[in-house]
Amino acid sequence: MIYGIGVDIVHVPEFAAALQEPGTAFFDRYFSRTEFDYCEYAPDQQRAQRYAVRYAAKEACLKALDGARIHSPAAFRFQFPEASVCKDEYGRPFFQFHGRLAEFISALHLQARLSLSHTGDYAIAQVSMECMR
Ligand SMILES: CC(C)(COP(=O)(O)OP(=O)(O)OC[C@H]1O[C@@H](n2cnc3c(N)ncnc32)[C@H](O)[C@@H]1OP(=O)(O)O)[C@@H](O)C(=O)NCCC(=O)NCCS
Repeated sequence: MIYGIGVDIVHVPEFAAALQEPGTAFFDRYFSRTEFDYCEYAPDQQRAQRYAVRYAAKEACLKALDGARIHSPAAFRFQFPEASVCKDEYGRPFFQFHGRLAEFISALHLQARLSLSHTGDYAIAQVSMECMR
């Protein structure tokens, strides 16, 4: 059963600007170490796209979990680095959840599915949350 869906689109140049600010807390606030390692060592143009699409993925995930946020506001807390975008051996992206967010998703028996795309100035992500119970 589909529990929720979410989509988000991000304007990449805004990320490119944020990346250039010296001493920015941007990375720690939004991204996991795995994401940092994948994005940071990309060729210049792809670097901002990779960050942007991962940010879009987290926003889309938040939308897909909106039902849970409404029904259990006390238990629900979304820390962006706790929804970490990883890649499998074929290059396909998937979420690895950590901390309280992982506990929350596991308690609801949810499984996330994720698709990403980026070209030029735009990055888009789509997430569906399936209930496996
Ligand atoms: C998957 C594929 C269609 C992506 O096309 P593309 O236009 O270059 O990609 P987009 O710009 O739209 O999207 C890029 C994102 O797609 C995702 N992606 C990459 N490979 C993927 C795959 N196999 N399946 C799903 N998503 C994939 C990545 O998350 C990537 O973003 P990231 O590098 O920032 O993580 C293309 O790379 C392809 O055909 N690859 C071959 C797939 C293959 O051989 N698979 C082998 C197993 S069957």
